[in-house]
Amino acid sequence: MSATGQDTGRRIGDVVLKVDNISLSFGGVRALTNISFTVREHEILSIIGPNGAGKSSMLNVINGFYHPQEGVITYKGQARSRMRPHEAARQGIARTFQNIALFKGMSALDNIMTGRNTMMKSNIFAQALYWGLGQKEEIAHREHVERIIDFLEIESIRKTPVGRLPYGLQKRVELGRALAAQPELLLLDEPMAGMNVEEKEDMCRFILDVNDEFGTTIVLIEHDMGVVMDISDRVVVLDYGRKLAEDVPDAVRANQEVIDAYLGVSHAA
Ligand SMILES: Nc1ncnc2c1ncn2[C@@H]1O[C@H](COP(=O)(O)OP(=O)(O)OP(=O)(O)O)[C@@H](O)[C@H]1O
Ligand SMILES: [Mg+2]
Repeated sequence: MSATGQDTGRRIGDVVLKVDNISLSFGGVRALTNISFTVREHEILSIIGPNGAGKSSMLNVINGFYHPQEGVITYKGQARSRMRPHEAARQGIARTFQNIALFKGMSALDNIMTGRNTMMKSNIFAQALYWGLGQKEEIAHREHVERIIDFLEIESIRKTPVGRLPYGLQKRVELGRALAAQPELLLLDEPMAGMNVEEKEDMCRFILDVNDEFGTTIVLIEHDMGVVMDISDRVVVLDYGRKLAEDVPDAVRANQEVIDAYLGVSHAA
């Protein structure tokens, strides 16, 4: 999966994801109220807003972790009010989490390999019965994972247990696991939180490369406004579970309501 030189990305296409009037509550807590926005093919769309604004909840609705009380999600033309995470994965939606969710004792390579699970045709019994088939499939998956390792420049840590890696590299492995599923829509929940400047620059470059080389559509939650304004095609702003704005970065930056609620105040980096 090295650079192909193909001009696959940056041609924003049709609407691939439509979020329509989504409302989500937990008991008395209203996490999302009537949220609507669209994501276009090949786009990088950022979701920003203060802590507790509902950003992670929104990603959890998109990939089926949370089931909204109201509203419809339309993905690739198929409308539904709820789906399960494994269905989302099968339809080409992958994600990373705000708090790293990796198997700490397993190597970087094996963690990334788990991202192939939804694509494995033969289960363990089939593999035992038809050894040849299972083996062939395993080799193909391993080759794909090796290409991701190459792409993310983590050859030197491929055998290292993830728990021993510095935070920035763990985040990179988590991105690798999401990429292993060859997603069409990649949801990234604060992929740069807690990183130093150099690590952030690396992560930015990988996100842009994924978008550009594979044409992957990306929805990104990020608090670093420099990064958001730099890499996003459009930005959705949430505040207390409501949408304040949906626009190109320059317009969002100049929006007084957004400045008052978020940009003008200090917030977590
Ligand atoms: N599983 C849950 N059970 C109960 N309340 C929840 C749950 N998930 C989210 N919430 C609540 O929903 C609201 C939105 O939370 P969410 O995590 O989506 O915010 P966020 O914008 O991602 O914040 P942050 O920037 O801190 O990550 C908060 O009030 C939160 O406490
Ligand atoms: Mg969050």
